[in-house]
Amino acid sequence: MKKFNVLWAVLASLSPLFGSAMAAEPVADRGEYVARLGNCVACHSIPDAPPFSGGLKMATPLGAIYVTNITPDKETGIGNYTYEDFDRAMRLGIAKDGHNLYPAMPYPSYAKMNEEDMKALFDFFMKSVPAAKVVNKPSEIPSPLNIRWPLKIWNFVFADDDRYEAVAGKDMAWNRGAYLTQGLGHCGACHTPRGIAWNEKGQNENDSKFLIGAPLDNWSASNLRQDVNTGLGRWKKEDLTSFLKNGHNKFGSSFGSMTEVINNSTQYMTNEDINAMSTYLLSLEGSREKDANPYTYVPATAEALKERKYDAPGSLTYMQQCVTCHLMDGAGFAPYLAPIAGNPITVDPSPDSLINIVLNGTQPIVVDGMPDAYRMPVYRILLSDKEIADVVTFIRNGWGNKASPVTAEKVAEIRKLTDPASDQVHILRMK
Ligand code: HEC
Ligand code: HEC
Ligand code: HEC
Repeated sequence: MKKFNVLWAVLASLSPLFGSAMAAEPVADRGEYVARLGNCVACHSIPDAPPFSGGLKMATPLGAIYVTNITPDKETGIGNYTYEDFDRAMRLGIAKDGHNLYPAMPYPSYAKMNEEDMKALFDFFMKSVPAAKVVNKPSEIPSPLNIRWPLKIWNFVFADDDRYEAVAGKDMAWNRGAYLTQGLGHCGACHTPRGIAWNEKGQNENDSKFLIGAPLDNWSASNLRQDVNTGLGRWKKEDLTSFLKNGHNKFGSSFGSMTEVINNSTQYMTNEDINAMSTYLLSLEGSREKDANPYTYVPATAEALKERKYDAPGSLTYMQQCVTCHLMDGAGFAPYLAPIAGNPITVDPSPDSLINIVLNGTQPIVVDGMPDAYRMPVYRILLSDKEIADVVTFIRNGWGNKASPVTAEKVAEIRKLTDPASDQVHILRMK
């Protein structure tokens, strides 16, 4: 499974069942809505196969595994699951036959789900999803690492199976937002760094590493806390709403694995739920740079470009390749052509996303069935490692941005890991 196909996969594979029927109207089918909130389709479907019949290859620190068939087929899917079996798989990571699931299935997050949502979700899978006979593929984890019983110990140490409990003193919107973010939305599965045992280093607002940003799949799932420059410290509620609904706002546009989340999940959220999630996220204190000065625009970069002064390495490449869309002042044409001046992504301590987007471009953001109009082009063939390192370093430090330089070696590494000709898999990387 090539990575580029995987990203696209999920967009293209949506059958009528999971297509327009779920436009952002008031919720018609509760279970289908819960499946959207949990983004089951992103992992449990691949293109050209029946929805939810599994087959996606995911890398884990031990080796690749394949996502399983969760259609109600009795032989190859979950047709024999009772509600109790389903609840146990979803919350404790234990399959019907008793084997432990790898935490690539985000059960530590789904553990927070309430019973009402769980029942609706179970009904949706049993009654509305067509059964598909597709046999699960065995994992590629080599023996003896493939024995699953150590997962019981893992669960004991790392997984908390308590359902979400409302925090006293916080209003309903905040609590609903916390429930969605920590639970169904499993935002932490990508945005929270993982420890040595692949455990997320933080489950909720009480942990300072929760949603602080983390590497995955050669992208950087950025900081969602209130850090003023690298996090969401300058975002207002309407900015976050616009991003989760449309994939664009005045700070930037979605790309990489976040586009899967917007295309398949967050755009379907009701306004009330998006508002709740935003209320919660914007309450998460910054843990880095708390007192740093908020970004201010510095005109010197644009002035130098206007006067054709290309002393800064990367500035000439910027003028030749990037300026038509992102402009001399780095403002782009927000919200459609992303700005890169003052964009939190541009000053992310990890440059992975920037290198990856310049090498490989972006996939369409599809909202209400319509792909958006503008793409970030692919520069993998046109630009060398050194040219990419320089132009990325240039944008990380132009217009008042401040971030560490990028080396050609780092670009070479990501170029290799994201080579469309290699057997790329959907990686959840540990660091
Ligand atoms: C990030 C990827 C991911 C997401 C999102 C995800 N799953 Fe899974 N799921 C997996 C993987 C991987 C497995 C298989 C794990 C294994 O074999 O150890 C799995 C296994 C399961 C199983 C066990 C089935 C069996 O007998 O093998 C059930 C049930 C399940 N998922 C339901 C769901 C539902 C419902 C959702 C949405 C609310 C969901 N999953 C979302 C990755 C995911
Ligand atoms: C044809 C127009 C176009 C050109 C040329 C272009 N970009 Fe982009 N760029 C985009 C669009 C559009 C996005 C927003 C993501 C998307 O929707 O594809 C984007 C996004 C980005 C982002 C991420 C910002 C975000 O929040 O989405 C960075 C960084 C970036 N571009 C850097 C560059 C660099 C460096 C160059 C030159 C080497 C360049 N771009 C050339 C159109 C362009
Ligand atoms: C499959 C991995 C994945 C999941 C799950 C995920 N994200 Fe992301 N997210 C990313 C990546 C990668 C980026 C960086 C690219 C971008 O800005 O679009 C990102 C970026 C973002 C941004 C933009 C931040 C910025 O500074 O521009 C927001 C906001 C966001 N995510 C919110 C969420 C929320 C809320 C959830 C849970 C509902 C979530 N994400 C779940 C991978 C993920």
